[in-house]
Amino acid sequence: MQKLFYATVLLVISSATSIQLSAQIKVDFEKQIWPILDSKCVQCHKAPYEENGRVKKPKAGLRLDGAWAIMAGGEGGAALKPGDSEHSDLYFRVTLPEDDDDFMPPTGKADPLTDEEKKLLAKWIDEGADFGGWAGNLEGKPTEVSNDGGKIPVSEIQEMYKSLSEGLEPLKEDAWKDVTASGGRVMPLSTTSPLLAVDYRLTAEDATDEKIKTVNAISDQVAHLDLSKSQVTDAVLADVAKMPRLVRLDLHKTGITDAGLADLKGLKNLRYLNLYGTQVTDAGLKHLESIKSLRSVYLWGSKATQKGAKALGKNLPEAKINFN
Ligand code: HEC
Repeated sequence: MQKLFYATVLLVISSATSIQLSAQIKVDFEKQIWPILDSKCVQCHKAPYEENGRVKKPKAGLRLDGAWAIMAGGEGGAALKPGDSEHSDLYFRVTLPEDDDDFMPPTGKADPLTDEEKKLLAKWIDEGADFGGWAGNLEGKPTEVSNDGGKIPVSEIQEMYKSLSEGLEPLKEDAWKDVTASGGRVMPLSTTSPLLAVDYRLTAEDATDEKIKTVNAISDQVAHLDLSKSQVTDAVLADVAKMPRLVRLDLHKTGITDAGLADLKGLKNLRYLNLYGTQVTDAGLKHLESIKSLRSVYLWGSKATQKGAKALGKNLPEAKINFN
């Protein structure tokens, strides 16, 4: 008996050390991750450059050509949550089905990541997203706060998130346990942000108005809401209208119609609205004219016409109306 006990202890110790040993071989960003990003992502996610006299900006404001830029994220907030690949958009998007609209790299534009590359990327993020000595492209990097109180120049969009965050405290995961239980995912926009991104992408087929009602508990802090391809009806927009800090709303390929859009009028911070593949018509677009904060509206595959899209563009001169 005694012998068996010692043998077991030894076995446990030796297997523990071997686990430790293999865990010590950390992923090397520069050798193993950078070549993947460089060949499959950076063509679209790099510092602004000129082509045929026009300035090309990084897609979705996300640059993947420098360590600081990868950590800064894009228009959708943080791309990376060190230690948590499952909640990192950078990893999530490369693991989506290839026919998903959000899949990266976009189908046909660059080779998808191999299984081996996906595993490496997840391991690197889960190990804390350590860049080692790699800094990448420093062009455009905001300067650090100087001791004499110098200000960090931040982009307009970062400024907006900052002012939306004022007076809010980050919530504990417990605050959104009902959302998680209903099939939703909740992610803070960054490790320190009190603002939240909520999506039902993984359970869209079962995501009904009733399930999405769970989000009401955190509605004050929701900045991004992705209900794309879910089962929602116009009724859900009465709840969405009560999210004062909502910046991005994705309703693509849902049953939303003109009637529902009337509810969105009160959203003062809404910049991005995706209505791709909905039943929305020109009449519905009228309800959007007063939302002056809008900067991108997606209408492709909806029932709206070119004329309606143009009229909306006239009333929202700062917005890009994407019709095709
Ligand atoms: C051919 C151009 C192209 C390539 C290559 C590409 N992307 Fe993108 N990416 C886009 C576009 C366009 C968007 C914005 C549309 C969207 O949100 O789906 C985007 C958005 C993103 C976003 C969301 C950013 C935000 O803040 O909203 C992430 C994360 C992302 N890409 C990661 C990647 C990764 C990782 C790769 C490489 C594996 C990659 N992309 C390759 C064009 C590209």
